Parts: sequence; structure tokens; C-alpha cells
Amino acid sequence: MFERLICQIQRFTLDLVAKSGLLCSLYYALCSGSFRREHRGVVSGRLKHMKEARKPTGCQYILRRNIHLLEKGLLMRPRHDAFALDYIEETVGCYARAFELGRTSPNLVSQVELQWASDVLSLYFEVVGAHPIIDELRERFCALQATVPDRAPTAVPYERGVTGPLSVKYEDLLQLARRRRSVRWFLQKPVPRKMIDRAIAVAALCPSACNLQPFEFRVFDDAELTQKVASIPTGTVGFGDNFPAIVVLIGKLHAWPGEQDRHLIYIDASLAAMAFLFALETQGLSSCCLNWPDLQAQERRMSKLLGLEPDERVIMLIALGYPDPHGLVAYSQKKPLAELRSFNITA
Ligand SMILES: Cc1cc2nc3c(=O)[nH]c(=O)nc-3n(C[C@H](O)[C@H](O)[C@H](O)COP(=O)(O)O)c2cc1C
Repeated sequence: MFERLICQIQRFTLDLVAKSGLLCSLYYALCSGSFRREHRGVVSGRLKHMKEARKPTGCQYILRRNIHLLEKGLLMRPRHDAFALDYIEETVGCYARAFELGRTSPNLVSQVELQWASDVLSLYFEVVGAHPIIDELRERFCALQATVPDRAPTAVPYERGVTGPLSVKYEDLLQLARRRRSVRWFLQKPVPRKMIDRAIAVAALCPSACNLQPFEFRVFDDAELTQKVASIPTGTVGFGDNFPAIVVLIGKLHAWPGEQDRHLIYIDASLAAMAFLFALETQGLSSCCLNWPDLQAQERRMSKLLGLEPDERVIMLIALGYPDPHGLVAYSQKKPLAELRSFNITA
């Protein structure tokens, strides 16, 4: 009786607030703190992004995004004579700082990324036309490059040249997709780190918005730590203590300057996660994704254990290991094609 009353009040309230965005904001500000952690994560991420933009040690995400934009400018048809005017100064500034850092503390900078930035900027300044802004920055860039050995840029837009047949056939991929199932029972056998790394190498090749790759695989294969991590999410009850290893996939909200892109950590990390699962499967390993709902107690425990900052959000966890051949997997009927897709349907 009491529960029914609560339910009716909730329904009435939701019916009312659903009528406008402002009412929804008021509702979540006054009646529910459900979005508090997300708000804090987004705000902390924006702040960190702004601070990093000025730090001598870091504007990695800005440099990565801008170099990506330059590459898009370079591959455009037709290519504009002068482009990137609104961000080339920022890009050269970020590059100069990364370049300097690479010289003083090489371990703090990814040399391959620096090389990529150097090559793309070299090609940009080679092909772009004369313009007061560009000319000044070209000089600045050339002064930096004068201190390193001269080489033709290679990490730049290229023709893929993929006319030959692909050895992976559709049937192979279908077989792999059918083979992969959520496995919850594993052999108590260590997982070679090399296999995990090989799977992450495939995940690393996935698309991500502006190539920002705003995620990280935090792998736990130490028995005690794996148990600790596995005991935190709610969806592991009854089987969480048999995981040989577990991954916590973390998204980094500070990759983006604005809240409009707050969902990209989930999209990008999930695309990488799927490739990771397939790559595990090709090596005879199995996995089970584990849900990470936004729950106060779990968030607190995980943040403390992993030392997460407010803008670092858990996307999901992934249990993995050699499958126990006698462990059952759920049948998990998939939706038929007709329910899954439509062509050209509009309002
Ligand atoms: C984001 C996500 C969260 C999941 N969370 C859990 C979980 O907490 N516990 C669990 O046992 N399975 C979890 N699963 C596994 C699903 O139950 C499983 O993928 C689904 O039932 C389909 O089965 P299949 O993976 O074998 O195709 C999760 C899967 C995904 C993609």
C-alpha cells in the first residue's frame, strides 16, 4: 500500500518534470543527487583540460586533436591553400612544449606521437600557402626542427593501397562473433601478459573521436588485487571469485574542453573494448563485461583502490581468463535482423 503510494507520487513527479528541461534540472538539483558525480566529473575534466593547456608538461590531448585536424585538412578534396588558421598557433605552441619536454624528460613524452606531430606539421608547412599567421609559425616550427636530423615526413596522410584480398573473410568474423560469449567460469590458470597486451594492441587500433583515445586499460592479474577489484561491482556476485584477471576500463573526461563531448569516453572505450574481447577470443581466452552503474559505495571503493581522479570514470570492467570447458554460458538469444535495423525510415 505504502509502496504503491510512493510509486504514484514518483510517477506524478516525473510526469510533471518531464514537461521541460528546466524542471528536470530543478528536480535533479533539489530532489535527487543521481547526476552529482557525473557533473563533478565533467566539471573536473574541463578544469583539468584548461590547466593542462597551459602546463609545460601537458597538452597531449590538444596536440593529438589538432594534429588530427591538420591531417583532415591535408587529405581534403580539394585541399585549401591556407587552412587551420584558427588553431595552428595553439598546435605549434603545444608541439614546442612537447618537443622541449621530449628533450629534457624523454620518458614523459610518447616519441611516436611526437614524431607524428612533427611529420604532419612538416607536411602542413610545406604545402600550405603564404599567410602572415602561417609564415610566422612556419619560421618558429623550422627553428625547432633545425635542431633535429632532417628526414622526409612519413607519419602523414597516405593512400592505403588496399586493392588485394583480405585474408579475414566475413565468415571468419561471424564465426568469431558466434564463438565469443560472456564466460563466467574460468580455469585457475594464469593468463600470459603477452596475450593481454596483444589484445590491447588490437583495441588500440579502434576509431575514436578526433583520434583522442581517451581511455586506459588497467589490468589486474595479481590474485589478491584481482579479488579486491572483482568484489566491487554488483554484477559479479556468485562468480567473481574465480576470475584469473580483470580489467578496469577507465575513460578520461579531461580529453575534451566542453561538456557536449562527455559521452565520447563511453563510445570510444566501448569500441575499443569490443575489439579487445574479439582479440582475446582469437587467442583462446574468454571474457565477461561487467556493468559499472553510478553507485556511491562502489564508486568510492574503486576510486580509493585505483586512485582515480574525479574526471576518470569507470566505463566497465572485463573479467578474463582461459574458459572452463565445463562452465555453462547463457544462451542469450539475439534480436532478429528485422528488429535491429531499418532503411530510410523517417518521421
Ligand atoms: C556493458 C555490459 C555490462 C555487463 N555487465 C554484466 C554484469 O555485471 N554481470 C554479468 O554477469 N554479465 C554482464 N554483462 C554480460 C551480459 O550479460 C552479456 O553480454 C549478455 O547477456 C549477452 O550474452 P553474450 O555476451 O554471451 O552474448 C555485461 C555486458 C555488457 C556489454
